[in-house]
Amino acid sequence: MLRIVSFLLALTTLLNSANAQRVFAHVIVGNNGAYDKAQWISDIRLAQAAGIDGFVLNIGTPWAGTIESQVSLAFQASNEVANEFKLFFSFDYEGGTGGPWNPSDVITTLQVKHYVENYSYAKHPYTPFQNTGKAIVSTFEGSDHVGDWSSIKTQFSSRGIYFIPEYTSKDPNWHRGHLDVIDGVFSWNMWPDGPNDMPTDPATDPDVAWKGVNGQYMMGVSPWFFTDLPNYGKRRLWRGDDLWHQRWEHVYDIKPQFVQIVTWNDFGESHYVGPIWNQGIPNQDGANAHWYVDNMPHDGWRALLPHYIATYKNGGVEPVVTTEKLSYWYRLYPAASGNANGVVCNAPWQTTYPPSQCLQDEIFFTALIKSLPATISVQIGGNSPTNFQATKTGLNHFSQPFNGQTGAVTIKIVRNGAVAVQGTGIAILLGPPDGRANYNAWVGSASA
Ligand SMILES: *[C@@H]1O[C@H](CO)[C@@H](O)[C@H](O)[C@H]1NC(C)=O
Repeated sequence: MLRIVSFLLALTTLLNSANAQRVFAHVIVGNNGAYDKAQWISDIRLAQAAGIDGFVLNIGTPWAGTIESQVSLAFQASNEVANEFKLFFSFDYEGGTGGPWNPSDVITTLQVKHYVENYSYAKHPYTPFQNTGKAIVSTFEGSDHVGDWSSIKTQFSSRGIYFIPEYTSKDPNWHRGHLDVIDGVFSWNMWPDGPNDMPTDPATDPDVAWKGVNGQYMMGVSPWFFTDLPNYGKRRLWRGDDLWHQRWEHVYDIKPQFVQIVTWNDFGESHYVGPIWNQGIPNQDGANAHWYVDNMPHDGWRALLPHYIATYKNGGVEPVVTTEKLSYWYRLYPAASGNANGVVCNAPWQTTYPPSQCLQDEIFFTALIKSLPATISVQIGGNSPTNFQATKTGLNHFSQPFNGQTGAVTIKIVRNGAVAVQGTGIAILLGPPDGRANYNAWVGSASA
């Protein structure tokens, strides 16, 4: 009897912890200034269709105007969709026009309209025995203000706050010294340094180090990074290339408690996976992203998300594939063909490189395969196609160099001589028409 009870207990714990894994997407609320409720509902439905459990609402100071009204609309929309979609706040300590958050404004924000008690906020996932029923609160930076949080947390002691700040500017050891207030760690370290891949050797793997702080880890997954906003002092990129696929595979190794997709709608940094919202694209003089965001859809990065996310929640074991799909992306011309115009690979605090030394001039593509054999063929313009053999059912990722070829891209999954899935993509050119290099990606997808 005892054995059966302990077996059942172990099983329940296993099921609970599997269920407690969640995937959120980072939403820059400031970019949604002109949203109405219907647009929030549409985004929530698109996110849910991709398997995303909730939005992390990035809010800068001051708590007023569009930030306050958009948060209200997001909560109304989420409650209306009423399908267990989650919302929680990321207090942005660097992005607001009112400077860093002060504790009383944080408390006001969490208390106005009782967001912490709101169905969409309060119905949060939780780790058994650790953060049961607590409301997640995150930040973007603000590590100098970590001292504010013990008193903020006492204000919400009946509900309980589960605090997972993003303090990537401080190292894991620093975090260990603040476990009196920090419940878990989220890290913005999710793009490679220079021409490299993200480290996966446990000795140097940042995800291993971050998860090692206390085991409660929200892992960041991002497909891309390119920003050219001189007035914000931001003219740089980090290598994307295969990252979207590699990072998800790494999620299966790291097995974090949560995943946060960066981002849903940050157009200025080119890592949006949500639909392009014209009015959310930075458009001031000296900070205008239209030239690199317009006509560069990223929706195709959501195509395989249901499978990536289901695999993550299934302990890294891929579920059976019922619908074959393709997701593919590339820049529109070789990196060295355009004028970098001051853009560098890497951030100012790293060794910088010319973009063409970091980026690969290749088509990156992932095929979700139902059965073998399957060939994936990729063709640029009228050139002869290159064939790749799927090695397993499930996810198969490849890349194909441009090799100087130009023209529209055709990608197919072919089985026994018949085309099972076919996708097409915008033409690859010899160079940028106006000479200025756009390092954003064009992303497409196709499905059976
Ligand atoms: C959640 O917040 C929204 C927006 O303020 C509100 O319309 C809704 O009634 C709230 N729901 C609950 C259950 O508190």
